[in-house]
Amino acid sequence: MIVGVPRETFPGERRVALAPSVIPTLVKAGLEVIVEVGAGIEAGYPDGDYANKGAKLLPQRAEVFRNADIILQVLCYGSNDQTGRADLPLLRRGQALIGFLRPLGDVHTIQEIAATGVTSFAVELMPRITRAQNMDALSSMGTICGYKAVVIAADGLPKIFPMLTTAAGTITPARVFIIGCGVAGLQAIATAKRLGAVVSAYDLRPAVLELVQSLGGRFVELPIEATDAQDAGGYAKAQDESFYQRQRELLGRVVSESDVVITAAVVPGKKSPVLVTRDQVEAMAPGSVVVDLASERGGNCELSRMGEQVVHHGVKVIGTINMASSVPYHASQMYGRNLTNFLLHMVKEGQLVLNLEDEITHNTIVTRDGEIVNPRVREFFNLPAAVVP
Ligand SMILES: NC(=O)c1ccc[n+]([C@@H]2O[C@H](COP(=O)([O-])OP(=O)(O)OC[C@H]3O[C@@H](n4cnc5c(N)ncnc54)[C@H](O)[C@@H]3O)[C@@H](O)[C@H]2O)c1
Repeated sequence: MIVGVPRETFPGERRVALAPSVIPTLVKAGLEVIVEVGAGIEAGYPDGDYANKGAKLLPQRAEVFRNADIILQVLCYGSNDQTGRADLPLLRRGQALIGFLRPLGDVHTIQEIAATGVTSFAVELMPRITRAQNMDALSSMGTICGYKAVVIAADGLPKIFPMLTTAAGTITPARVFIIGCGVAGLQAIATAKRLGAVVSAYDLRPAVLELVQSLGGRFVELPIEATDAQDAGGYAKAQDESFYQRQRELLGRVVSESDVVITAAVVPGKKSPVLVTRDQVEAMAPGSVVVDLASERGGNCELSRMGEQVVHHGVKVIGTINMASSVPYHASQMYGRNLTNFLLHMVKEGQLVLNLEDEITHNTIVTRDGEIVNPRVREFFNLPAAVVP
């Protein structure tokens, strides 16, 4: 079977679905790899590196789609809502497509993908189980985003992070507050600690308290308890507005005393809760920085604007989107490794074998033979249950 890697087309996207280093592993598994010319350039992987590792380079995007049995992308149509649509006519029945599809985004988009007949897999739906950890692209990208959010905040802050005792006096450490301790939030805690900040963190899932403390952060405990804080998959469950209102009130003091607030509190398939209000931002010292990692899904900060930096009362509110793309070398390396592990899981003797009894395949497959077959996606969009997935 032939695995095809087209160049990413989302504006500003710099990642590529496979780094050259994984190609020998795929070849050993009986797969051929074709790559669109220039696909890895922006990520720091020249064409020659792919050729040296055994891939064939093709100059035309359409040729990659025509020749490949399995297409690997970072942002497929769905998550690429700007230019991804142009790929639809290039997809076909019997072909597989793997990447970020935003499966709980827009039902019409997923229906359009289904209509091509392609067998699509959304990496966002990878189950959070030990067996699938090395295929978990959300964790890989979350790790990169958490790191980069701190670097951006440190760059924007008119202070340094560590405490210094110098001949010119003592510098007090920066206070960094992380809201939402999933993979991204935990990496932000670790990164801010490494830079010397005093770090506090909060999450509605009490289960993360020990993780925060083990990274050297102080867990901010609020005198409220979420009902049914997490689902079976470990994800936070949406709460009612009165809960969020109470959270905002209680978080206000910590926010206003922080130099940096990084928000990463998301709920799958839902608009992100607003946890940092305009009033709280106004109470922060001028020069402070808020980095809102949830801005793509509505934002955790009332003032954040998707993809923009807003300065309000001297406080920078940064709503950068697609942050993982700004660290394309390592993001692609991790993502490519995740996809390779996913492929090796499904490929037997050089052929893609779909075992729908297997939780990993069953959970990630979104469309097949013209239908949306994923039970979670169907339920989310209130579609009647599919006959056989
Ligand atoms: N293979 C594995 O076992 C594995 C791998 C990665 C993640 N996980 C688990 O999957 C789950 C989701 O991780 P993720 O990184 O995708 O998280 P995520 O990006 O879905 O959510 C980010 C964090 O925001 C928090 N949050 C949501 N609403 C909030 C609110 N109102 N106030 C405060 N915090 C709020 C969530 O609890 C979560 O910790 C976690 O339980 C994580 O431990 C498991």
